[in-house]
Parts: sequence; C-alpha cells; structure tokens
Amino acid sequence: MTTIPGTSRPFTSHPLGAPRRITRRNVVPSQWQGELSAVLISERQLRRRVLELARAITRDYVGADLLVVPLLTGTLMFMADLLRHLSLPLRLDFVGVSSYREGTESRDLVFTKELRLEAKGRDVLLVDDILDTGRTLAAVQARLAGLKPRSLRTCVLLDKPDRRRQAVQADYVGFVIPNEFVVGYGLDFAERYRNLPFVAVLRPERYA
Ligand code: IMP
Ligand code: MG
Repeated sequence: MTTIPGTSRPFTSHPLGAPRRITRRNVVPSQWQGELSAVLISERQLRRRVLELARAITRDYVGADLLVVPLLTGTLMFMADLLRHLSLPLRLDFVGVSSYREGTESRDLVFTKELRLEAKGRDVLLVDDILDTGRTLAAVQARLAGLKPRSLRTCVLLDKPDRRRQAVQADYVGFVIPNEFVVGYGLDFAERYRNLPFVAVLRPERYA
C-alpha cells in the first residue's frame, strides 16, 4: 500500500461510487432548441456529482502536497465548482493544450501553456473536462509524469468510453456519457456554448 511520505497515512482511494451513467434526457430551454437536441446533464445533477467528487478527493488527499492542474479551457466551470468544495490546502496551476481540432476530431497536440509551479515531489491531480479518444490525457499525463511528481492522478467530469483509442485511466470520473458531441458547462464547439450551465447534446447538423 502506498503511504504519503513522512506520514503513516495511506494514499488510497475512498469510495466515490461508480460514475453516473446518463441515459435520461431533459428538455432544452426554448431559446436553445434550434441548436441543442437535449439536455444530458442538468445543473442539479452536475452540482450533486461535483460535490461527491470533491468529497472523495478531499478525503484522499489529506496530508498530501496537492497541486491541482486543470487543462484549459473546457474545465473552467467544473474547476470553479470543484475547487470551492475541496477543503484542504492546495496549489493550482493550469496547463494548456491545443489539439487543432477539425470539426469534432482531435489532431496533433501542441502545449500552449506549460506548468509554472514545481510539480516534482508533489501530489499532482490532473483535471480535464472530458475523456474522449484519450489522446489529450495520454500526452498530458506523460508530460506531467516526466516532472517526477510524488503521485499523479486524473479527474475528468465526463467519460465517453466508446470513442477510446488510447488506453488512459481516470481515477475520478463524474459521468459516463454516450457517444454524442456535448457542449456546455465549459465545453465548446468552435469556442461557443461554454457558458451554458448544463451539459447538452449539440444537434449534429450544427457540426456537419
Ligand atoms: P481526446 O484527446 O480525444 O480525448 O479529446 C479530449 C478533448 O477534446 C477534451 O479536452 C475536449 O476539449 C474535447 N472534446 C472531446 N469530446 C468532446 C465533446 O463531446 N464536446 C466538446 N469537447 C470535446
Ligand atoms: Mg479540452
């Protein structure tokens, strides 16, 4: 069993509960009905699950030297909500990657913002909005692992397992969603829709 160095405290995972599987759909507010086909995850569902994630992370990282590393920009709302419920000391620094997406497919990865804080010897928690093909997280995990953190874990709000091309593990997963392009709560299509307070399915004709 791994212990947090300098303490006898085990660095283990406390029960988080399986990721929520999203199947039911909610009605789209009328002003968005031309662009969105369904609300997949409501504000209330997001609030409840983010609180569960935050509580599990808080329990797991007691006594750790936590460095939270969100990926820009899709994590903005998730991060703001998660952080206010992480009740333990931590540091925060962002990493930026650009995947030069064509439509909804990710291509080559370029780092647009590197970590500025020291990761070496710290307990790094990488946070992303969605685990899709896994290319982004595989690349960022490899980059962070090279900085020799004491531990490295990954938290994602959404997981779309049907699209996985690279074997990537996330330690904390909010929701498992079907293979559909989603927007809102920070997630975009062509830099739009990030401001929606819920996660919704974009009508395919919008990105076709
Ligand atoms: P991956 O490298 O294919 O796993 O893609 C991960 C990144 O693609 C995420 O950080 C998102 O920015 C973006 N992405 C993947 N799926 C979606 C989606 O359904 N909606 C919005 N962005 C997505
Ligand atoms: Mg992203």
